[in-house]
Amino acid sequence: MPALVLLGAQWGDEGKGKATDLLGGSVDYVVRYQGGNNAGHTVVVGDQKYALHLLPSGILSPGCTPVIGNGVVVDPSVLFSELSGLNERGVDTSKLLISGNAHIITPYNVTVDKVTERFLGKRKIGTTGRGIGPTYADKINRVGIRVQDLYDESILTQKVEAALDVKNQMLTKFYNRRAIAVDQVVEELLGYADKLAPYVADTVLVLNQALEQDKVVLFEGGQGTLLDIDHGTYPFVTSSNPTAGGACTGAGVGPTKISRVIGILKAYTTRVGAGPFPTELFDEDGEALRRIGGERGVTTGRDRRCGWFDAVIARYATRVNGLTDFFLTKLDVLTGWEQIPVCVAYEIDGKRVEELPYSQTDFHHAKPVYEMLPGWSEDITGAKSFSDLPKNAQAYVKALEEMSGAPISAIGVGPGRDETIEINSFL
Ligand code: IMP
Repeated sequence: MPALVLLGAQWGDEGKGKATDLLGGSVDYVVRYQGGNNAGHTVVVGDQKYALHLLPSGILSPGCTPVIGNGVVVDPSVLFSELSGLNERGVDTSKLLISGNAHIITPYNVTVDKVTERFLGKRKIGTTGRGIGPTYADKINRVGIRVQDLYDESILTQKVEAALDVKNQMLTKFYNRRAIAVDQVVEELLGYADKLAPYVADTVLVLNQALEQDKVVLFEGGQGTLLDIDHGTYPFVTSSNPTAGGACTGAGVGPTKISRVIGILKAYTTRVGAGPFPTELFDEDGEALRRIGGERGVTTGRDRRCGWFDAVIARYATRVNGLTDFFLTKLDVLTGWEQIPVCVAYEIDGKRVEELPYSQTDFHHAKPVYEMLPGWSEDITGAKSFSDLPKNAQAYVKALEEMSGAPISAIGVGPGRDETIEINSFL
Protein backbone atom coordinates (compact mmCIF):
# COMPACT_ATOMS: atom_id res chain seq x y z
CA MET A 1 0.00 0.00 0.00
CA PRO A 2 2.65 2.58 -0.88
CA ALA A 3 0.66 5.83 -0.76
CA LEU A 4 2.86 8.88 -0.37
CA VAL A 5 1.82 12.46 0.21
CA LEU A 6 4.23 15.13 -0.99
CA LEU A 7 3.44 18.64 0.16
CA GLY A 8 4.94 22.07 0.75
CA ALA A 9 6.14 22.57 4.33
CA GLN A 10 6.31 26.39 4.07
CA TRP A 11 4.36 28.89 1.91
CA GLY A 12 4.58 26.94 -1.35
CA ASP A 13 7.17 27.09 -4.14
CA GLU A 14 9.52 24.76 -2.26
CA GLY A 15 10.40 22.85 -5.41
CA LYS A 16 7.79 20.06 -5.33
CA GLY A 17 7.93 19.56 -9.07
CA LYS A 18 11.50 18.36 -8.83
CA ALA A 19 10.63 15.97 -6.04
CA THR A 20 7.57 14.48 -7.73
CA ASP A 21 9.45 14.14 -10.93
CA LEU A 22 12.34 12.44 -9.19
CA LEU A 23 9.91 9.81 -7.93
CA GLY A 24 7.89 9.81 -11.15
CA GLY A 25 9.66 6.84 -12.75
CA SER A 26 8.66 4.46 -9.98
CA VAL A 27 5.22 5.92 -9.30
CA ASP A 28 2.06 4.54 -10.94
CA TYR A 29 -0.29 7.44 -10.18
CA VAL A 30 0.38 11.10 -9.36
CA VAL A 31 -2.67 12.79 -7.89
CA ARG A 32 -3.43 16.43 -7.31
CA TYR A 33 -5.91 16.73 -4.45
CA GLN A 34 -6.55 20.46 -3.99
CA GLY A 35 -6.00 23.90 -5.49
CA GLY A 36 -6.11 24.64 -9.18
CA ASN A 37 -4.05 26.60 -11.65
CA ASN A 38 -2.80 28.82 -8.82
CA ALA A 39 0.01 26.29 -8.32
CA GLY A 40 3.23 26.43 -10.25
CA HIS A 41 5.65 23.59 -10.66
CA THR A 42 8.83 23.97 -12.65
CA VAL A 43 10.15 20.62 -13.76
CA VAL A 44 13.46 20.27 -15.56
CA VAL A 45 13.85 17.14 -17.68
CA GLY A 46 17.14 17.00 -19.55
CA ASP A 47 17.53 20.40 -21.18
CA GLN A 48 13.77 20.99 -21.23
CA LYS A 49 12.05 23.15 -18.65
CA TYR A 50 8.30 22.70 -18.07
CA ALA A 51 6.07 25.05 -16.10
CA LEU A 52 2.89 23.33 -14.95
CA HIS A 53 0.04 25.08 -13.14
CA LEU A 54 -2.86 22.67 -13.03
CA LEU A 55 -1.61 19.34 -14.30
CA PRO A 56 0.07 16.90 -11.91
CA SER A 57 3.81 16.82 -12.56
CA GLY A 58 3.58 13.05 -13.15
CA ILE A 59 2.25 13.91 -16.62
CA LEU A 60 5.90 14.06 -17.72
CA SER A 61 6.65 10.47 -16.68
CA PRO A 62 5.53 8.07 -19.42
CA GLY A 63 4.59 5.14 -17.12
CA CYS A 64 2.59 7.25 -14.73
CA THR A 65 -1.15 8.02 -14.70
CA PRO A 66 -1.78 11.64 -13.71
CA VAL A 67 -4.99 12.26 -11.77
CA ILE A 68 -6.91 15.43 -10.96
CA GLY A 69 -8.89 14.55 -7.83
CA ASN A 70 -12.29 15.71 -6.63
CA GLY A 71 -10.72 18.33 -4.35
CA VAL A 72 -9.17 20.26 -7.25
CA VAL A 73 -10.81 23.21 -9.01
CA VAL A 74 -10.40 23.03 -12.78
CA ASP A 75 -10.35 25.90 -15.24
CA PRO A 76 -11.04 24.08 -18.55
CA SER A 77 -9.44 26.79 -20.70
CA VAL A 78 -6.20 26.48 -18.71
CA LEU A 79 -6.42 22.69 -18.76
CA PHE A 80 -6.59 22.55 -22.56
CA SER A 81 -3.92 25.14 -23.11
CA GLU A 82 -1.55 23.22 -20.79
CA LEU A 83 -2.37 19.94 -22.51
CA SER A 84 -1.82 21.31 -26.00
CA GLY A 85 1.41 23.02 -24.89
CA LEU A 86 2.72 19.63 -23.74
CA ASN A 87 1.44 17.80 -26.84
CA GLU A 88 3.30 20.27 -29.06
CA ARG A 89 6.48 19.29 -27.25
CA GLY A 90 5.78 15.60 -27.80
CA VAL A 91 4.47 14.73 -24.31
CA ASP A 92 1.71 12.11 -24.33
CA THR A 93 -1.12 13.30 -22.09
CA SER A 94 -3.74 10.70 -22.96
CA LYS A 95 -3.56 8.89 -19.60
CA LEU A 96 -4.84 11.89 -17.62
CA LEU A 97 -7.88 11.20 -15.40
CA ILE A 98 -10.14 13.93 -14.01
CA SER A 99 -12.69 13.41 -11.26
CA GLY A 100 -16.28 14.02 -12.30
CA ASN A 101 -16.74 15.58 -8.86
CA ALA A 102 -14.03 18.22 -9.30
CA HIS A 103 -15.42 21.74 -9.41
CA ILE A 104 -15.06 23.98 -12.45
CA ILE A 105 -13.60 27.47 -12.29
CA THR A 106 -16.11 29.42 -14.37
CA PRO A 107 -15.39 32.78 -16.02
CA TYR A 108 -17.53 34.51 -13.37
CA ASN A 109 -15.40 33.02 -10.56
CA VAL A 110 -12.35 34.64 -12.14
CA THR A 111 -14.20 37.97 -12.43
CA VAL A 112 -15.28 37.82 -8.78
CA ASP A 113 -11.69 37.04 -7.66
CA LYS A 114 -10.39 40.11 -9.47
CA VAL A 115 -13.10 42.56 -8.42
CA THR A 116 -13.00 41.54 -4.75
CA GLU A 117 -9.21 41.88 -4.60
CA ARG A 118 -9.43 45.32 -6.20
CA PHE A 119 -12.14 46.29 -3.74
CA LEU A 120 -10.07 45.15 -0.74
CA GLY A 121 -7.34 47.64 -1.68
CA LYS A 122 -4.65 47.64 1.02
CA ARG A 123 -6.32 44.68 2.74
CA LYS A 124 -6.04 42.46 -0.35
CA ILE A 125 -4.83 38.86 -0.04
CA GLY A 126 -2.66 39.07 -3.14
CA THR A 127 -4.40 36.11 -4.75
CA THR A 128 -3.26 34.72 -8.06
CA GLY A 129 -6.47 36.12 -9.60
CA ARG A 130 -7.35 32.72 -11.07
CA GLY A 131 -10.78 32.41 -9.44
CA ILE A 132 -9.66 29.83 -6.87
CA GLY A 133 -11.26 31.32 -3.73
CA PRO A 134 -14.62 32.18 -5.35
CA THR A 135 -14.86 28.67 -6.86
CA TYR A 136 -14.30 27.04 -3.47
CA ALA A 137 -16.79 29.53 -1.98
CA ASP A 138 -19.39 28.36 -4.50
CA LYS A 139 -18.58 24.74 -3.63
CA ILE A 140 -19.16 25.39 0.08
CA ASN A 141 -22.27 27.49 -0.68
CA ARG A 142 -23.56 24.55 -2.75
CA VAL A 143 -23.83 26.58 -5.94
CA GLY A 144 -20.70 25.16 -7.57
CA ILE A 145 -20.49 23.64 -11.05
CA ARG A 146 -18.87 20.21 -11.24
CA VAL A 147 -17.21 18.48 -14.17
CA GLN A 148 -20.11 15.99 -14.38
CA ASP A 149 -22.59 18.88 -14.81
CA LEU A 150 -21.23 19.49 -18.31
CA TYR A 151 -23.03 16.31 -19.40
CA ASP A 152 -26.55 17.46 -18.48
CA GLU A 153 -27.44 20.74 -20.18
CA SER A 154 -30.64 21.32 -18.22
CA ILE A 155 -28.94 20.79 -14.83
CA LEU A 156 -25.98 22.92 -15.92
CA THR A 157 -28.27 25.79 -16.93
CA GLN A 158 -30.16 25.64 -13.62
CA LYS A 159 -26.92 25.61 -11.67
CA VAL A 160 -25.36 28.50 -13.57
CA GLU A 161 -28.60 30.44 -13.04
CA ALA A 162 -28.49 29.76 -9.32
CA ALA A 163 -24.83 30.75 -9.11
CA LEU A 164 -25.33 33.98 -11.04
CA ASP A 165 -28.49 35.02 -9.26
CA VAL A 166 -26.76 36.70 -6.34
CA LYS A 167 -23.47 37.37 -8.16
CA ASN A 168 -25.07 39.48 -10.84
CA GLN A 169 -26.79 41.58 -8.19
CA MET A 170 -23.46 42.04 -6.50
CA LEU A 171 -21.53 42.74 -9.71
CA THR A 172 -24.00 45.34 -11.03
CA LYS A 173 -25.20 47.02 -7.82
CA PHE A 174 -22.11 46.87 -5.67
CA TYR A 175 -19.08 46.59 -7.94
CA ASN A 176 -20.49 48.62 -10.82
CA ARG A 177 -19.79 45.91 -13.37
CA ARG A 178 -21.88 44.45 -16.15
CA ALA A 179 -24.08 41.41 -15.43
CA ILE A 180 -22.85 38.06 -16.77
CA ALA A 181 -25.27 36.27 -19.14
CA VAL A 182 -26.27 32.72 -18.13
CA ASP A 183 -26.52 31.55 -21.76
CA GLN A 184 -23.05 32.71 -22.59
CA VAL A 185 -21.51 30.85 -19.65
CA VAL A 186 -23.52 27.68 -20.37
CA GLU A 187 -22.45 27.77 -24.02
CA GLU A 188 -18.80 28.20 -23.13
CA LEU A 189 -18.88 25.36 -20.61
CA LEU A 190 -20.76 23.00 -22.92
CA GLY A 191 -18.09 23.70 -25.52
CA TYR A 192 -15.59 21.85 -23.32
CA ALA A 193 -17.76 18.79 -22.67
CA ASP A 194 -16.71 16.57 -25.60
CA LYS A 195 -13.04 17.40 -25.30
CA LEU A 196 -13.10 16.72 -21.59
CA ALA A 197 -15.09 13.46 -21.81
CA PRO A 198 -12.19 11.03 -22.46
CA TYR A 199 -10.49 12.13 -19.26
CA VAL A 200 -13.47 12.07 -16.87
CA ALA A 201 -13.45 9.11 -14.49
CA ASP A 202 -14.49 7.81 -11.08
CA THR A 203 -11.06 8.63 -9.72
CA VAL A 204 -11.94 7.54 -6.16
CA LEU A 205 -12.62 4.02 -7.38
CA VAL A 206 -9.57 3.99 -9.65
CA LEU A 207 -7.22 5.11 -6.86
CA ASN A 208 -8.58 2.76 -4.21
CA GLN A 209 -8.36 -0.18 -6.62
CA ALA A 210 -4.81 0.85 -7.47
CA LEU A 211 -3.89 0.83 -3.77
CA GLU A 212 -5.47 -2.58 -3.31
CA GLN A 213 -3.25 -3.81 -6.14
CA ASP A 214 -0.19 -2.40 -4.36
CA LYS A 215 0.43 0.28 -6.96
CA VAL A 216 2.49 3.30 -5.92
CA VAL A 217 0.29 6.37 -5.58
CA LEU A 218 1.75 9.82 -4.99
CA PHE A 219 -0.49 12.62 -3.75
CA GLU A 220 0.96 15.94 -4.78
CA GLY A 221 -0.07 19.02 -2.79
CA GLY A 222 -0.22 22.47 -4.35
CA GLN A 223 0.78 25.61 -2.39
CA GLY A 224 2.01 24.80 1.13
CA THR A 225 1.21 24.18 4.80
CA LEU A 226 1.18 27.86 5.80
CA LEU A 227 -1.26 28.62 2.97
CA ASP A 228 -3.76 26.02 4.23
CA ILE A 229 -7.25 27.43 4.83
CA ASP A 230 -7.37 25.78 8.30
CA HIS A 231 -3.74 25.61 9.38
CA GLY A 232 -2.14 28.51 7.52
CA THR A 233 -1.76 32.20 8.20
CA TYR A 234 -5.47 32.93 7.77
CA PRO A 235 -6.79 35.06 6.07
CA PHE A 236 -3.60 35.23 3.97
CA VAL A 237 -4.07 31.72 2.69
CA THR A 238 -5.45 29.83 -0.25
CA SER A 239 -8.98 28.39 -0.08
CA SER A 240 -8.16 24.68 0.17
CA ASN A 241 -6.26 22.20 2.35
CA PRO A 242 -2.73 21.54 1.06
CA THR A 243 -1.96 19.79 4.39
CA ALA A 244 -1.87 15.99 4.52
CA GLY A 245 -5.53 15.54 5.51
CA GLY A 246 -6.49 17.27 2.27
CA ALA A 247 -5.07 14.32 0.34
CA CYS A 248 -7.72 12.08 1.91
CA THR A 249 -10.71 14.33 1.32
CA GLY A 250 -9.45 15.67 -2.01
CA ALA A 251 -8.84 12.23 -3.51
CA GLY A 252 -11.29 10.00 -1.60
CA VAL A 253 -8.66 7.83 0.05
CA GLY A 254 -8.84 6.95 3.75
CA PRO A 255 -6.10 8.09 6.16
CA THR A 256 -5.24 4.45 6.98
CA LYS A 257 -4.01 4.07 3.40
CA ILE A 258 -1.35 6.78 3.61
CA SER A 259 2.06 5.29 4.31
CA ARG A 260 4.38 8.29 4.12
CA VAL A 261 4.05 12.07 4.28
CA ILE A 262 6.97 14.00 2.82
CA GLY A 263 7.35 17.73 3.44
CA ILE A 264 9.23 19.76 0.84
CA LEU A 265 11.33 22.29 2.66
CA LYS A 266 13.39 25.03 1.06
CA ALA A 267 16.77 25.68 2.70
CA TYR A 268 15.54 29.27 3.19
CA THR A 269 12.00 30.71 3.08
CA THR A 270 9.88 32.45 0.44
CA ARG A 271 6.32 33.70 0.24
CA VAL A 272 4.16 35.20 -2.51
CA GLY A 273 1.29 37.57 -1.78
CA ALA A 274 0.44 39.35 1.45
CA GLY A 275 0.59 38.18 5.08
CA PRO A 276 3.03 37.79 7.97
CA PHE A 277 6.52 36.38 7.33
CA PRO A 278 8.82 36.70 10.39
CA THR A 279 12.17 36.01 8.68
CA GLU A 280 11.54 38.20 5.63
CA LEU A 281 14.61 40.16 4.50
CA PHE A 282 14.49 43.65 3.05
CA ASP A 283 18.24 44.00 2.50
CA GLU A 284 20.84 42.78 0.01
CA ASP A 285 20.72 39.25 1.46
CA GLY A 286 17.03 39.04 0.52
CA GLU A 287 17.84 40.39 -2.91
CA ALA A 288 20.65 37.83 -3.31
CA LEU A 289 18.39 34.91 -2.31
CA ARG A 290 15.82 36.12 -4.86
CA ARG A 291 18.42 36.45 -7.60
CA ILE A 292 20.38 33.24 -6.97
CA GLY A 293 17.28 31.19 -6.18
CA GLY A 294 15.35 32.52 -9.20
CA GLU A 295 12.52 33.42 -6.84
CA ARG A 296 9.91 34.64 -9.24
CA GLY A 297 6.43 33.05 -9.32
CA VAL A 298 5.86 30.44 -12.04
CA THR A 299 2.15 31.31 -12.14
CA THR A 300 2.05 35.04 -11.55
CA GLY A 301 5.55 36.22 -12.50
CA ARG A 302 5.61 38.15 -9.20
CA ASP A 303 8.87 38.44 -7.25
CA ARG A 304 8.76 36.20 -4.20
CA ARG A 305 9.45 37.65 -0.76
CA CYS A 306 12.62 35.99 0.60
CA GLY A 307 14.01 35.28 4.07
CA TRP A 308 16.14 32.92 6.15
CA PHE A 309 15.11 29.42 7.16
CA ASP A 310 12.47 29.33 9.89
CA ALA A 311 12.64 26.21 12.06
CA VAL A 312 9.49 27.15 13.98
CA ILE A 313 7.52 26.82 10.76
CA ALA A 314 9.23 23.55 9.85
CA ARG A 315 8.33 22.06 13.27
CA TYR A 316 4.74 23.21 12.80
CA ALA A 317 4.62 21.56 9.37
CA THR A 318 5.91 18.32 10.90
CA ARG A 319 3.13 18.45 13.48
CA VAL A 320 0.07 19.36 11.39
CA ASN A 321 0.98 16.99 8.56
CA GLY A 322 2.43 14.13 10.58
CA LEU A 323 5.52 14.33 8.37
CA THR A 324 7.65 11.22 8.12
CA ASP A 325 10.39 12.83 5.99
CA PHE A 326 11.65 16.09 4.58
CA PHE A 327 12.99 16.77 1.10
CA LEU A 328 15.31 19.77 1.55
CA THR A 329 15.53 21.81 -1.65
CA LYS A 330 17.80 24.54 -3.04
CA LEU A 331 20.67 24.03 -0.62
CA ASP A 332 23.02 25.21 -3.40
CA VAL A 333 21.45 28.69 -3.28
CA LEU A 334 23.05 29.26 0.13
CA THR A 335 26.60 28.62 -1.13
CA GLY A 336 28.83 31.64 -0.56
CA TRP A 337 27.49 33.07 2.68
CA GLU A 338 30.09 33.17 5.45
CA GLN A 339 27.44 32.67 8.09
CA ILE A 340 23.82 31.64 7.63
CA PRO A 341 21.21 32.81 10.13
CA VAL A 342 18.51 30.26 11.04
CA CYS A 343 15.42 31.26 12.98
CA VAL A 344 15.13 28.89 15.97
CA ALA A 345 12.36 30.64 17.94
CA TYR A 346 10.37 33.88 17.98
CA GLU A 347 10.35 36.79 20.33
CA ILE A 348 6.78 37.95 20.82
CA ASP A 349 6.15 41.00 22.97
CA GLY A 350 9.40 40.45 24.84
CA LYS A 351 8.93 36.67 25.41
CA ARG A 352 10.77 33.81 23.71
CA VAL A 353 8.30 31.46 22.00
CA GLU A 354 9.41 28.08 20.64
CA GLU A 355 6.29 27.05 18.70
CA LEU A 356 4.10 28.78 16.13
CA PRO A 357 1.52 30.88 18.02
CA TYR A 358 -2.10 30.09 17.20
CA SER A 359 -3.00 33.76 17.57
CA GLN A 360 -2.78 35.78 14.37
CA THR A 361 -1.93 38.92 16.36
CA ASP A 362 1.00 37.17 18.05
CA PHE A 363 2.28 35.85 14.74
CA HIS A 364 2.17 39.37 13.29
CA HIS A 365 4.32 40.51 16.23
CA ALA A 366 6.78 37.60 16.01
CA LYS A 367 10.42 38.61 15.61
CA PRO A 368 12.92 35.91 14.64
CA VAL A 369 15.50 34.71 17.14
CA TYR A 370 18.50 33.71 15.02
CA GLU A 371 21.30 31.22 15.53
CA MET A 372 24.28 31.70 13.19
CA LEU A 373 25.51 28.61 11.36
CA PRO A 374 28.85 28.59 9.51
CA GLY A 375 28.50 28.76 5.71
CA TRP A 376 30.50 27.13 2.88
CA SER A 377 31.97 28.42 -0.35
CA GLU A 378 32.54 25.20 -2.33
CA ASP A 379 30.26 24.47 -5.31
CA ILE A 380 27.91 21.68 -4.18
CA THR A 381 25.93 21.19 -7.39
CA GLY A 382 27.89 18.06 -8.32
CA ALA A 383 27.42 16.37 -4.92
CA LYS A 384 26.03 12.85 -5.28
CA SER A 385 26.04 11.75 -1.66
CA PHE A 386 25.79 13.42 1.73
CA SER A 387 29.49 12.89 2.35
CA ASP A 388 30.32 14.84 -0.86
CA LEU A 389 28.96 17.98 0.81
CA PRO A 390 31.40 20.33 2.57
CA LYS A 391 31.45 19.79 6.35
CA ASN A 392 29.60 23.05 7.03
CA ALA A 393 26.85 22.20 4.55
CA GLN A 394 26.47 18.80 6.23
CA ALA A 395 26.24 20.52 9.61
CA TYR A 396 23.64 22.96 8.24
CA VAL A 397 21.47 20.06 7.04
CA LYS A 398 21.88 18.16 10.30
CA ALA A 399 20.98 21.26 12.34
CA LEU A 400 17.84 21.85 10.26
CA GLU A 401 16.86 18.21 10.65
CA GLU A 402 17.22 18.34 14.42
CA MET A 403 15.22 21.55 14.69
CA SER A 404 12.49 20.47 12.29
CA GLY A 405 11.49 17.15 13.85
CA ALA A 406 11.67 14.74 10.90
CA PRO A 407 14.54 13.15 8.98
CA ILE A 408 15.81 14.90 5.84
CA SER A 409 15.72 12.06 3.33
CA ALA A 410 16.71 13.96 0.17
CA ILE A 411 18.55 17.17 -0.63
CA GLY A 412 18.27 19.27 -3.77
CA VAL A 413 21.64 20.69 -4.81
CA GLY A 414 20.67 22.12 -8.22
CA PRO A 415 17.62 22.50 -10.47
CA GLY A 416 18.29 19.47 -12.73
CA ARG A 417 16.52 16.18 -12.26
CA ASP A 418 19.71 14.38 -11.19
CA GLU A 419 20.99 17.16 -8.93
CA THR A 420 19.55 15.50 -5.85
CA ILE A 421 21.18 13.60 -3.01
CA GLU A 422 19.04 10.70 -1.83
CA ILE A 423 19.70 9.72 1.77
CA ASN A 424 16.74 7.40 2.43
CA SER A 425 14.61 6.11 -0.40
CA PHE A 426 10.99 7.28 -0.34
CA LEU A 427 9.75 3.94 -1.62
P1 IMP B 1 -5.19 32.08 -4.31
O1 IMP B 1 -4.75 30.67 -4.08
O2 IMP B 1 -5.05 32.53 -5.74
O3 IMP B 1 -6.54 32.37 -3.75
O4 IMP B 1 -4.17 33.04 -3.48
C1 IMP B 1 -4.15 33.03 -2.06
C2 IMP B 1 -2.74 33.17 -1.54
O5 IMP B 1 -1.99 31.99 -1.82
C3 IMP B 1 -1.92 34.32 -2.17
O6 IMP B 1 -1.04 34.85 -1.18
C4 IMP B 1 -1.13 33.63 -3.25
O7 IMP B 1 0.05 34.33 -3.59
C5 IMP B 1 -0.82 32.32 -2.56
N1 IMP B 1 -0.56 31.21 -3.49
C6 IMP B 1 -1.45 30.56 -4.24
N2 IMP B 1 -0.85 29.58 -4.93
C7 IMP B 1 0.44 29.60 -4.61
C8 IMP B 1 1.58 28.79 -4.96
O8 IMP B 1 1.50 27.83 -5.72
N3 IMP B 1 2.74 29.14 -4.39
C9 IMP B 1 2.86 30.16 -3.51
N4 IMP B 1 1.84 30.93 -3.15
C10 IMP B 1 0.63 30.65 -3.68
